[in-house]
Amino acid sequence: MNKAIIVTGGAGFIGSNFVNEWLAQSDVQVINLDCLTYAGNMENLSALKEDPRHVFVKGGIGDSALVSRLLNQYQPYAVINFAAESHVDRSIHAPEDFIQTNIVGTFRLLEAARIYWNGLSSEDKANFRFLHVSTDEVYGSLKKDDPAFAETNRYEPNSPYSASKAASDHLVRAYHHTYGLPVLTTNCSNNYGPYHFPEKLIPLIIANALADKGLPVYGDGQQIRDWLYVADHCSGIRCVLEAGRIGETYNIGGWNEMANIDIVHTVCALLDEARPRQDGKSYREQIVFVTDRPGHDRRYAIDASKIEKELGWRPAETFATGIRKTVQWYLANPEWVANVQSGAYRDWVETNYAGRNQ
Ligand code: NAD
Ligand code: TYD
Repeated sequence: MNKAIIVTGGAGFIGSNFVNEWLAQSDVQVINLDCLTYAGNMENLSALKEDPRHVFVKGGIGDSALVSRLLNQYQPYAVINFAAESHVDRSIHAPEDFIQTNIVGTFRLLEAARIYWNGLSSEDKANFRFLHVSTDEVYGSLKKDDPAFAETNRYEPNSPYSASKAASDHLVRAYHHTYGLPVLTTNCSNNYGPYHFPEKLIPLIIANALADKGLPVYGDGQQIRDWLYVADHCSGIRCVLEAGRIGETYNIGGWNEMANIDIVHTVCALLDEARPRQDGKSYREQIVFVTDRPGHDRRYAIDASKIEKELGWRPAETFATGIRKTVQWYLANPEWVANVQSGAYRDWVETNYAGRNQ
């Protein structure tokens, strides 16, 4: 079997966690293709700087010539597609990039993979996998008492982000059914953990709390998400890559539904304990309720029983252990946060929060 994989988007939050963990456990070379948007950060990969098992290539998944060259040169036995525009609020302000990367980019990646796969020997063809990393948001929004999302739920995406991910999932499915490409798709719930860009709820709350800024909670803060520690998402992906049935989709989740306001309270309590405010008050004092996100999905919940029963995967962390590790990581890495809070990031904060009433 060939001894390389291509990972796309491996300088982002989940992709960089995946690459770091992969190379901590395996000597299979990783070709990391990432065009380094605002969300891509080489610092996330600094531990691999001198490591010949990690080959970083700056480029886009939509660059068919580049992708074909990499496939032919490195002869990978898998492509794992993390590359995406991933922030719902940005997709509301500027959807175009989401269409280009998540839909057109995934299509071009699939097409290059199909041509490469067609040219492989029958043994390598049988071993090849295209694993597409997707989200639970494609299923839409649940009511309070609805059962959690199963793989059989219909797709009802509500934001430009989730609609673009849904479209990419459909293309992946079609490449299996039409051309026989050996694909796998994972649909995961909200991740949290190290290297999470501080535009998303948990790292934003930690960064703002420590900077003595407001902690913005959209609407009534009662929206529910199912949170999974990023290392558990990565172990789920490895599990599906190794043993998932070709053409199948697998939901990955932490059985951990929580309202946003409870997440914010938990983070405040951990910070109160680890880094108390100088005035002795709780970080909760900094919470501000702001205008809600348009079309805000009320509840996501993942039924992860398929991956558990078929592949024996289970999350290693509970929310209590994972969020503690996460807060500790941010406290230990203030320079990482300072470095990503670049000029471009400050412009985004202005765009997203300036128009919201408190
Ligand atoms: P992220 O925004 O942190 O990282 C995305 C990475 O992709 C960045 O490094 C960026 O530079 C790169 N990228 C963007 N466009 C590219 C292109 N055209 N070509 C090559 N690279 C490109 O995202 P994330 O949170 O790490 O999410 C990774 C994947 O997991 C996404 O597909 C996302 O939809 C999915 N997902 C995320 C979550 C979550 O909670 N963050 C949950 C479920 C699924
Ligand atoms: P986010 O981290 O952006 O992930 P997603 O939209 O993919 O679920 O947001 C998580 C939840 O937190 C979501 O319900 C929106 C909410 N939220 C806030 O209340 N305030 C904020 O400043 C942000 C960024 C998100």
